[in-house]
Amino acid sequence: MKKYTNIKDISNLKETIKDAILLKNDPYEFSELGKNKTLVMLFFNSSLRTRLSTEKAAKNLGMDVMILNVNDAWNLEFEDGTIMNVDTSEHIKEAAQVISQYADVIAVRAFPGLVDKEKDQAEFIMNSFVKYATAPLVNMESATAHPLQALTDAITISELSNKAKPKVVLSWAPHPKALPHAVANSFVEMMQNMDVDLTVTHPEGYELSTEITKNTPINHNQEAALKDADFVYVKNWSSYNDYGKILSQDKDWMMTSEKLDNAKFMHCLPVRRNVVVEDAVLDGDNSVVIQQANNRTFAAQIVLKQILENL
Ligand code: CP
Repeated sequence: MKKYTNIKDISNLKETIKDAILLKNDPYEFSELGKNKTLVMLFFNSSLRTRLSTEKAAKNLGMDVMILNVNDAWNLEFEDGTIMNVDTSEHIKEAAQVISQYADVIAVRAFPGLVDKEKDQAEFIMNSFVKYATAPLVNMESATAHPLQALTDAITISELSNKAKPKVVLSWAPHPKALPHAVANSFVEMMQNMDVDLTVTHPEGYELSTEITKNTPINHNQEAALKDADFVYVKNWSSYNDYGKILSQDKDWMMTSEKLDNAKFMHCLPVRRNVVVEDAVLDGDNSVVIQQANNRTFAAQIVLKQILENL
């Protein structure tokens, strides 16, 4: 693997999932592979799982890890030809090349602003690193994608499914803040590459980009969509068409035990209790969110392993 900025960078998904599960059973098998190699992780935004699981994954492979909260460094300029006489102190051209000298792999987390749709869709931060960095890039959640989370979700469904083609439902949930589309986008794209029966359910106005959903069935009736589901993935996102807006906080879309029935409950975390999902679901036997979060390590580890093997 040359980089992992998008799930399309996975050349063989089935093999990658299988190898991630093997790593989970023997995490230190390749502990020499990353010797004398350094992962630099750059955070433009907060993280709990991504930060810790990716560091753990790198250390399981014997890598050194350096972490920079970018807000503690110089304010970066991303536009070309700017007269930098206001807020920005360092251009991404220099920064990315400098960081590349310290890193064998660079991982970046940079959320969208959810104001300028064109700018977010252009992935200007991630793509600036792709353009100017000379070390391979790993996307730890960008404006439009969260491919490490999606690989985690694929691993988790593969581990837990006892059907040849399980029914998987992505269900929108209310949230008080405008959230990005990245998790939902990458989950849909990942499920489209798996042998699952995928349905997306959300209130009208919350359509994801049609470039993402393509022919995936969309049902505005949550109850009908959830019927006979094996896995229910709950996630909020803001409106894509009315970009970044909250159009509804309808409590009726919160996931409950009654709605979940016998399905497994999935969420990328963090999750707001009794807003997105009721306590009884998270605390119940059908919730797999803790196992899902554990799999973040092995998703990151298989990605780093494949990149290290290509250096
Ligand atoms: N799911 C996820 O990416 O968690 P963090 O935001 O805590 O990294």
